[in-house]
Amino acid sequence: MKVLITGGAGFIGQRTGQLLLKQGHQVAILDNLSPPAHDGPPALPAGMELIEGDVRRREDWVKALKENEVVIHLADHHDYLPSFSKLFHVNAVGTAILFELLLEKTSVRRVVLGSTTAVYGEGKYRCGKDGDVYPQPRRVDALEHGIWDPPCPICGGAITPMVTDESVARPTSAYGLSKLAQEELVRLLGERHGIECVILRYGAVQGREQPFQNAYYGALRIFALRLAHNQPPLLLEDGNQLRDFIDVEDVARANVAALAELPPGAYNVASGRAHTVMDLARILLRVAERDMTPETPGRYRVGDARHAVPDVSRLKATGWEAQSGLEAMARAYWQWLQAQPNLDTYFEGADHLMERTGTVRVAR
Ligand SMILES: NC(=O)c1ccc[n+]([C@@H]2O[C@H](COP(=O)([O-])OP(=O)(O)OC[C@H]3O[C@@H](n4cnc5c(N)ncnc54)[C@H](O)[C@@H]3O)[C@@H](O)[C@H]2O)c1
Repeated sequence: MKVLITGGAGFIGQRTGQLLLKQGHQVAILDNLSPPAHDGPPALPAGMELIEGDVRRREDWVKALKENEVVIHLADHHDYLPSFSKLFHVNAVGTAILFELLLEKTSVRRVVLGSTTAVYGEGKYRCGKDGDVYPQPRRVDALEHGIWDPPCPICGGAITPMVTDESVARPTSAYGLSKLAQEELVRLLGERHGIECVILRYGAVQGREQPFQNAYYGALRIFALRLAHNQPPLLLEDGNQLRDFIDVEDVARANVAALAELPPGAYNVASGRAHTVMDLARILLRVAERDMTPETPGRYRVGDARHAVPDVSRLKATGWEAQSGLEAMARAYWQWLQAQPNLDTYFEGADHLMERTGTVRVAR
């Protein structure tokens, strides 16, 4: 099959492309090689045709679409900094241009969109009094006082986090909102114009080769970079946030399954196992054999969800299952990172910028 991967020079795109090539598919990638994902030309796996271009430019899409039958659309802008308009230009407008072209005659029969569980915002909770509820974004004044758990949106009482299925999406960040806009375009225009569309909402993707120059997100990468500079993991909030960490190899397998096997629709792509961020920090300290204590000075990021635990039963019912566990992921990343030359203090630059822009704040 001829497959175009947008953002194919990125973390998930490269791994997906390698798997496709191994299975005998032809792979082209459309990527503008932009920072912070890249701070120079990447060494791409042999066999991938690179079309250097931007998803915001119609002529670049025209060059890239050619004879391809499936587009795996991963190129996106994801940022915690206040670059709100760029989020929508790249993620929503870029996707709208793709669909303008798909309405003209092309060979594309299916679009696979790489989305995110950030579209759920705070996700699903259960209230003893009000049943299943979907909390509002956490209030800044609560976060300022170190009150991390969202209250019931109906009675204001305490609530318990639940796994969140694909049915209700209410983002709490501009990034999540831009990805939901992108999803809705794909879903609506795909259905209306007979283009099969599969939306994959990834959990927190980690793993070997996650580029360390982009230290704005990716807990494993940020903690490992700090350890490599003899600094303990610095956790947001109290470290008890639940996340589903998934290995990039498992995500690549889901992307490949989405070429043909998965019926159109939205699917969560996650390991199905919830861990606290503190668990991840401790596991990394253990595999790195470092005797340090993770720090929780009350820093927080406005727009983060307290917990993010997707329900993976829909995808699992198709036969896909995550194969890698958290300890194996942490070990593989730590080993890979240690073998890298020129490990700069990327985390410090990213951290200072996030503090300066008010993206990361400290509770009183
Ligand atoms: N990594 C995660 O934890 C995670 C979690 C959930 C969802 N996702 C989604 O997965 C997809 C891929 O993420 P990733 O982790 O591989 O990111 P990445 O930053 O490593 O890769 C993104 C790629 O897109 C390219 N790109 C950015 N803007 C572009 C533009 N305007 N035109 C063309 N190319 C452009 C970048 O150069 C980069 O190579 C994204 O859509 C993201 O929303 C990632």
